[in-house]
Amino acid sequence: MKKYLLSIESTCDETAAAVIDEENRILSSIVSSQVDLHEKYGGVVPEIAARAHLERILPVIDEAMTQAGVSLQDLCAIAVATQPGLVGSLLVGVTAAKTLAMLLEIPLISIDHIAAHIYACRLHAGEDIFPAVGLVVSGGHTNLYDCQSALELELLGSTIDDAAGEAFDKVAQILGLSYPGGPAIQQAAEQGDAHRFAFPRSFMKEDRLAFSFSGLKTAVLYQVQGQPGANKQPPELTPTRLADIAASFQQAVVDVLVVKCKQAIEKTGRKTLCIGGGVAANALFRSELEAMCQEEKIRLIIAPMKYCTDNAAMGAIAWEKFKAKNFAPLDLDPTPGLIRA
Ligand code: KG4
Ligand code: ZN
Repeated sequence: MKKYLLSIESTCDETAAAVIDEENRILSSIVSSQVDLHEKYGGVVPEIAARAHLERILPVIDEAMTQAGVSLQDLCAIAVATQPGLVGSLLVGVTAAKTLAMLLEIPLISIDHIAAHIYACRLHAGEDIFPAVGLVVSGGHTNLYDCQSALELELLGSTIDDAAGEAFDKVAQILGLSYPGGPAIQQAAEQGDAHRFAFPRSFMKEDRLAFSFSGLKTAVLYQVQGQPGANKQPPELTPTRLADIAASFQQAVVDVLVVKCKQAIEKTGRKTLCIGGGVAANALFRSELEAMCQEEKIRLIIAPMKYCTDNAAMGAIAWEKFKAKNFAPLDLDPTPGLIRA
């Protein structure tokens, strides 16, 4: 008999469910985005996110089952992202998953959302890609890992303040652009001069595998609104100036991300680099990564666009745990914080 797994994702502001067969084929992948609800706040509001998950989780699961043409009785396990994330959001997915596992009397599998983002690259490759260096770069995370296997991740370094995607979102807000900021900045930057403003690139010249984007965000703020206490006001934010700031900011983030990936490869000696998370959708980042990896003779795997941002298909990683009979107890609790390896 064929085996199917239902994967549930509700770590942040996307309610998602997917049905995946044992050959890692994605039979359905439903994502209900809450972008419209959080747009006017310029970022995710945890209470609004939790409430929206509650309203959407059952219809999203229903739709995933219907599209896959699979009935609940055909499922062999329920997988759910349990960490890291917003606690109110996580609780909705975890409670739904526990209830289904209990009613259907099938195993419950706990998914690490970060490992799942990297696994999106494994899905894309269609074959084993580990060991590899993995970078998860999203609105909530900027983490570099040495991945021995899909499930064995050693944290090499992360951001000491804002995540890269968060910096995109905050800078977009400063520039009066729409939310989420990444696509809006990418678009504005197309007309801009990336060398006009020399914005800071933290830790760029150090071999320390850490990131910091809050100084960069402040530098953009001062360019737009002026420095506190300074007599001189900044020039008017014309479309050209806005485009140049967006392009210079984007270049600064991409430079840092690419250099840190290169350093992680040198440090670990790995020959494969995997990139996941929403910022991996950035076109400049993709092309500069390709250039670097070609030069270094590294295999580069970037998660496909639809699996860069949050989704439940990347929960296919749960098959690795299923095969190892690594199941979670029914009194499983979500873990909001990042587990440091
Ligand atoms: O992975 P994701 O959907 O959610 C989190 O887990 O955070 O990533 C969302 C983040 C947002 O901060 C968004 O601005 C950023 O990914 N993003 C981009 C682009 N598309 C989305 N950043 C830069 N360039 C893009 N094209
Ligand atoms: Zn994510």
